[in-house]
Amino acid sequence: MNTVLETVCARSSIRAYTPEKLTEEELSALRKAALASPTAMNRQDQRFIFITSDEKRARLEEAIIEGVVASGNTAFLERMKSRGGKVTYDAPLVVVICAKPGRFSPVDAGIAVENLALAAKSMGLDSVILGMPAAAFSGPNAEAAKAEFAFPEGFEFEIAISIGHRAMDKAPHEYDGSHVIDL
Ligand SMILES: Cc1cc2nc3c(=O)[nH]c(=O)nc-3n(C[C@H](O)[C@H](O)[C@H](O)COP(=O)(O)O)c2cc1C
Repeated sequence: MNTVLETVCARSSIRAYTPEKLTEEELSALRKAALASPTAMNRQDQRFIFITSDEKRARLEEAIIEGVVASGNTAFLERMKSRGGKVTYDAPLVVVICAKPGRFSPVDAGIAVENLALAAKSMGLDSVILGMPAAAFSGPNAEAAKAEFAFPEGFEFEIAISIGHRAMDKAPHEYDGSHVIDL
């Protein structure tokens, strides 16, 4: 296997991080990986909010919990509790991807978040993709949260990712070869 394939196969979701900060070189490489992602019709209608401050990350956690409580979604709350009440797992970098809504914006964001996950893995870092922060950017507090986290006007949350140095091990998920259908 070449190193790209090794990276693809080695990535897994890591839900505990050491407090070690990322270097400016690492952050710069990750910014580049995000911006290098392809978008439908090359619209590039997405923005990458790089959260490296502990205070901002703590605020994001609070906003998510406020959003979940406001939604009354008890299943979501139980899922959060089962993960130690943490959504971003104290990672030193959380990237929130927001986009101008369009036919392909979720696909574009999915491609970009995987670019970030693989770039991180290739640099000796780990990650977990995060859908749960959506709770902070929907419901009654949505507009305030979007303003607080610098979303441009009209942009909506798509997906987020925590990145850092792993403080746990987890094997990549198993998969079923029959999910690929050869014709
Ligand atoms: C779109 C998407 C949203 C996800 N949201 C979360 C999340 O909010 N919290 C979390 O801990 N993991 C989340 N995950 C991680 C998945 O649970 C994980 O990718 C899956 O269990 C497979 O495990 P692996 O990534 O280790 O292969 C998400 C993954 C994807 C692709």
